[in-house]
Amino acid sequence: MRCYELQGPGGIDALALVDKPVPQPGKAEVLVRLTAASLNYRDLLTVKGGYGSRQKFPLVPLSDGAGVVEVVGDGVAAFAPGDRVIGSFFESWIGGEPSEQRMRAALGGSVDGTLTEYRIFPVHALVKTPAHLTDIEASTLPCAGVTAWSAVIKLGAIRPGQTVLTQGTGGVSIFALQIAKMAGARVIATSSSDAKIERLKALGADVVMNYKSTPDWGKRAREISGQGVDLVVEVGGVGTLNESIRATRIGGTIAFIGVLAGAPASELRLPLMVMQQQRLQGVTVGSVEDLQALANALTTHQVKPVVDRVFEFGEARAAFAHMARGAHFGKVVIAIA
Ligand SMILES: NC(=O)c1ccc[n+]([C@@H]2O[C@H](COP(=O)([O-])OP(=O)(O)OC[C@H]3O[C@@H](n4cnc5c(N)ncnc54)[C@H](OP(=O)(O)O)[C@@H]3O)[C@@H](O)[C@H]2O)c1
Repeated sequence: MRCYELQGPGGIDALALVDKPVPQPGKAEVLVRLTAASLNYRDLLTVKGGYGSRQKFPLVPLSDGAGVVEVVGDGVAAFAPGDRVIGSFFESWIGGEPSEQRMRAALGGSVDGTLTEYRIFPVHALVKTPAHLTDIEASTLPCAGVTAWSAVIKLGAIRPGQTVLTQGTGGVSIFALQIAKMAGARVIATSSSDAKIERLKALGADVVMNYKSTPDWGKRAREISGQGVDLVVEVGGVGTLNESIRATRIGGTIAFIGVLAGAPASELRLPLMVMQQQRLQGVTVGSVEDLQALANALTTHQVKPVVDRVFEFGEARAAFAHMARGAHFGKVVIAIA
């Protein structure tokens, strides 16, 4: 089988296409022929070795993949050859609260990922692909989709009529917009691009703002929403946190997810956060149960992930470079078949 491998933290140019034998599944394992793998911002960090002390080398990159069951090992009853499946981001976090042990095996980080023609998954780490999704679409769920699900539904507990603020038009944020709309919420969405803002409106964003031409977007969001938004899906990190604190209502939540915006321009408004009894809620993807819940919700609402562009397997480096440019809207996917 062909797969991409990184021998060390050499960046995109160090991605090497190698040949390996197809592995055979053991007890309670499933061999999946992967047909699609999607990229996340995290993958731009892992190719440079920036994923922390647990990152392994050599590494097959990417956490997210979908495909078809090829062979099942002994004791596997839940899946049969030919079933379409999606793999979970964390192989050992089936459900319940996160723990060190459950979060140890993160695909494309501490264990090999999905940029490969075949991969063995433990049976408990797979969910069936919703019938209305192609494998390309389904491959976008495990990291960005589940993270947005955790932020908006599981931890954010958003209810109909509440207001959610999303930042930018990357994978997590577009999923968060779609999930918030499914939950009956009002969405204030931002982007640095007026062209992308038109696409946000088409996806159902109720209010849109250009965060470059409206640098006080948090203050504006607070005014527009009345008392402040119920939830901010914080993908910018400390660089956007001050505006997020301004945007959030008393008692509201900031789901802290990403690091896109770099360092803050001024001191953090943490006293304001204290006085407003806001909740800063860290989010780290989610479990297999969360992936299943997201798949169920997308099925019920017949919602499809937004795919920006699909690259061929031989164009993996170009896919990473496209992602790094930040011009995408939604998800970047590599077709493996
Ligand atoms: N904690 C977790 O479990 C978890 C899971 C997934 C991702 N993440 C993190 O979440 C972040 C987003 O990941 P992703 O895969 O969705 O990234 P992505 O697809 O690469 O997102 C890129 C987009 O983010 C927007 N952006 C960049 N800088 C921004 C800023 N200063 N303010 C607002 N928006 C900005 C831009 O949108 P416009 O072009 O529209 O301006 C850009 O196109 C990353 O930091 C990633 O590491 C964390």
